[in-house]
Amino acid sequence: MSIVVTAASGQLGRLTVKALLNRGVPASGIIATSRDVSRIKDLADRGVTVRQADFAEPASLPAAFEGADKLLLISTTTPSERVANHRRAIDAAVTAGVSLVAYTSMLRADTSTTSLAPTHSATEEYLRERLPSVMLRNGWYLENYTAQLPQVLQGGAVVGAAGQGRISAATRADYAAAAAVVLTTDGHAGKAYELGGDESFTLAELAATISAAAGKRIEYTHLTADAFTRVLLDAGVPAELAHVLADADLAMSRDEMFTDSGDLRHLIGRPTATPAEAIAAALR
Ligand SMILES: NC(=O)c1ccc[n+]([C@@H]2O[C@H](COP(=O)([O-])OP(=O)(O)OC[C@H]3O[C@@H](n4cnc5c(N)ncnc54)[C@H](OP(=O)(O)O)[C@@H]3O)[C@@H](O)[C@H]2O)c1
Repeated sequence: MSIVVTAASGQLGRLTVKALLNRGVPASGIIATSRDVSRIKDLADRGVTVRQADFAEPASLPAAFEGADKLLLISTTTPSERVANHRRAIDAAVTAGVSLVAYTSMLRADTSTTSLAPTHSATEEYLRERLPSVMLRNGWYLENYTAQLPQVLQGGAVVGAAGQGRISAATRADYAAAAAVVLTTDGHAGKAYELGGDESFTLAELAATISAAAGKRIEYTHLTADAFTRVLLDAGVPAELAHVLADADLAMSRDEMFTDSGDLRHLIGRPTATPAEAIAAALR
């Protein structure tokens, strides 16, 4: 009985492998994949089976997924290639006889107006039609903000286009813990979990939380989506990502990144990490 974790070299994949081990899954029962197994050598050193898998190269997938019982399909990074990549991975999971695929989708994938949502809803639909599956509709990562703390502290401002929209962000570690629960307990097939942090915030509230933690006045500067895109481009963010981020902020302004489902807290069996805790940890 093996559990495959794709994109195990990535931040979420790595945390999910760790969460599976913490839940008592033996390393020999976990198969971690990456396009380049040298990136997950540390997992091999811990006894995890590591295999090469590139969703753009379907020939690599049968051997990668062989013997898999459950599979965590972590969404890939390039939105324009995402659906085709995911379809190839799902086809290979069908061939491998996988009994359950968990897919890291996005919050409100079926109704969200973001440019990313159609890539997730198309994957969800393709998957649902072919295999018992569970959708892990992950909200925004808190790390999307904590990773920006040096620039925020230097500039004295959180800059965005989310207006007064409420955001239910959570840490990657909490989303990974939820994935590990879904992969190791029964009763999840057919479910779509709307996953987000317990404590939602506006970007102005986030700025206030950073101010309190850093002991420095930080304000929220609201920009139009176009102006925010220009700020991101000027900061060296690649064009595709800049547009995705500005588009996500617009969706946030309409509360599309907010959830009060409680699904994440219920799955992990404890409160989610708060923004203040994530900020304090990042400032340490
Ligand atoms: N919720 C959010 O706020 C948020 C933010 C950003 C991204 N995301 C989504 O969540 C996913 C996981 O997040 P993360 O932080 O772990 O991302 P990450 O650290 O950038 O990792 C991305 C992973 O995608 C894998 N990958 C890329 N192309 C692939 C392909 N063709 N075939 C197989 N694997 C491929 C990479 O594996 P190798 O390069 O080793 O093959 C890598 O492990 C992202 O890929 C993205 O879809 C969510």
